[in-house]
Amino acid sequence: MPDQYAVIGNPVAHSKSPQIHAEFARQTGQNLTYERLLAPTDAFMEAARAFRARGGLGLNVTLPFKGEAFRLATLLSERARAAQAVNTLKFEGDTIFGDNTDGAGLVNDLARNLGCAITGRRVLLLGAGGAARGVIKPLLEQQPARLVLANRTFGKAQLLAQNFGGGLQAGTYAALAGGQFDLIVNATSASLAGELPPLPPGVFAPGALAYDMMYGRDETPFLAFARGEGAAALADGLGMLVEQAAESFFIWRGLHPDTAQVLKLLRQAPT
Ligand code: ATR
Repeated sequence: MPDQYAVIGNPVAHSKSPQIHAEFARQTGQNLTYERLLAPTDAFMEAARAFRARGGLGLNVTLPFKGEAFRLATLLSERARAAQAVNTLKFEGDTIFGDNTDGAGLVNDLARNLGCAITGRRVLLLGAGGAARGVIKPLLEQQPARLVLANRTFGKAQLLAQNFGGGLQAGTYAALAGGQFDLIVNATSASLAGELPPLPPGVFAPGALAYDMMYGRDETPFLAFARGEGAAALADGLGMLVEQAAESFFIWRGLHPDTAQVLKLLRQAPT
């Protein structure tokens, strides 16, 4: 009987995680299954517990359940606690271990796949929801020259800046005018709605990388804006997806798969 894993979310039909983990398992010779679990929006806890009761060893958690997964865990990693969100659950005896690999996924994608240094650079993070929260601590650990978080609702950005202490500066979009950044990460959900966060012109420093956590067949409005503004490099969130999956795979199996090979496969496959 192979070991059982799954990604749980709503919706979840579009998830590429089963394909990614199947490829990781093939590469590393692991005997496991990885399925998609659609949970009703009001019944995440029940669905996760039922999966565990039938022998499941681990779950990836996607929207909208990362907060509930945080509450389900009986043991939390430091990075999950900082993010107050869990995207990886590991069931071990009586323990439900909750971790958050999203930030490591972003940092590893930037370092390994995009050759983008964070240390000493000016970084701007857009958004103050779960996606942004998950990456603040790992970004700060890389010691950027500054990390500014801009959000449409300024109060949420302010709250995060208070929680994370001195390293994180909160700002409004309007206050960004005149500033320049080497890396701008879009962690808002604006791209999902085909919208553009209200960035003033001129914020991309020469050589800047524009990074959208979203991915899809078409260029997002943020990346199109960045292109028009002369950003030197553009990246979507597919690399982050593969890298966060690799971190989860390591938590479950203790092995590091070859992410570059899987990323290449996904880029070739039609979306
Ligand atoms: P997630 O967990 O995916 O981050 P979320 O918690 O709903 O999702 O947060 C969505 C984020 O995208 C928020 O920061 C939101 O800004 P507000 O806090 O002001 O709502 C941001 N967002 C969504 N649409 C946006 C838009 N068109 N322009 C700018 N920010 C947007």
